[in-house]
Amino acid sequence: MTKRDATRLRIALQKEGRLAEWSVELLRGMGLEFETYKRRLISRCRNFDIDLLFLRDDDIPEYVQDGVVDLGIVGNNLVQECAAEVETLAPLGFGYCTLQIAVPEASAVRDVKQLQGLRVATTYPKMCARFLQAKGVTAEIIPIMGSVEITPSLDVADAICDLVSTGSTLEMHNLLSIATVMESEAVLVANRASRSGKAWNGRITQLIDRLHGVLQARAKKYVMLNAPSAAIPEIRAVISGRKSPTIVPLADPAMVAVHAVVEEDLFWEKMERLKAVGASDILVMTIEKMIA
Ligand code: PRP
Ligand code: ZN
Repeated sequence: MTKRDATRLRIALQKEGRLAEWSVELLRGMGLEFETYKRRLISRCRNFDIDLLFLRDDDIPEYVQDGVVDLGIVGNNLVQECAAEVETLAPLGFGYCTLQIAVPEASAVRDVKQLQGLRVATTYPKMCARFLQAKGVTAEIIPIMGSVEITPSLDVADAICDLVSTGSTLEMHNLLSIATVMESEAVLVANRASRSGKAWNGRITQLIDRLHGVLQARAKKYVMLNAPSAAIPEIRAVISGRKSPTIVPLADPAMVAVHAVVEEDLFWEKMERLKAVGASDILVMTIEKMIA
């Protein structure tokens, strides 16, 4: 690692893998300008005193804890497994996965209790052990570095405890999940001293504000529609946003245009209900950024 430049904030993100692309997109959404070509280790932001470090995700929690970097974007699963002493600033809404215990389909085991005395291979030995202990099960934990899914077929283990995202890895190896140990997503974490110290805290707060702007904008859509004036009360009831919608008269005196910000998660349901109460020409737009 190059010697730290004390004037530049450091953010670690995953070099390659599940979170890499989303992490880059998020930082760009927050207004950071940087290059990612040639798989470089460090990339310098053009418009901020910030250096980005592209690392193995497994190393990120400890690097943040130890102050090698000030901030990190990493799966909460890894933060928990390392029991890293970091401050979690925000969940990021991507990199969703679960840590699960799975057994071969042909196995007689269908319940965690049946793992008593058996072997469980995992790259998450601490969380796996804690989970089994809480269930009163004593099993032999076999810590390994990767490709956990092949260990039952090699007779290295009777069960595995591994991350599941789409479930395709389990399916491809004829493994069946029998328990969920943890639900995870990507989080932004900070070194405690950086977060509380004078040098960085202002800049970290600025980044958190921008992050919230991006996350909020993602969670919402801008909707424009036409409707009979008489339908305004029902339309407002469906939209029921934090703010009053904008209502604009149209050339046809019986009609109005309504503009509003709505929550994306209810977005299809809302569209259908709006149509049902008389809305037409419904346009839905992505909000790029939002400052409330
Ligand atoms: C995890 C896990 C599985 C795979 C599951 O590894 O170890 O191999 O993802 O995903 P699926 O349910 O979509 O098939 P990951 O790619 O995160 O790599 P890493 O744990 O080695 O960083
Ligand atoms: Zn990894």
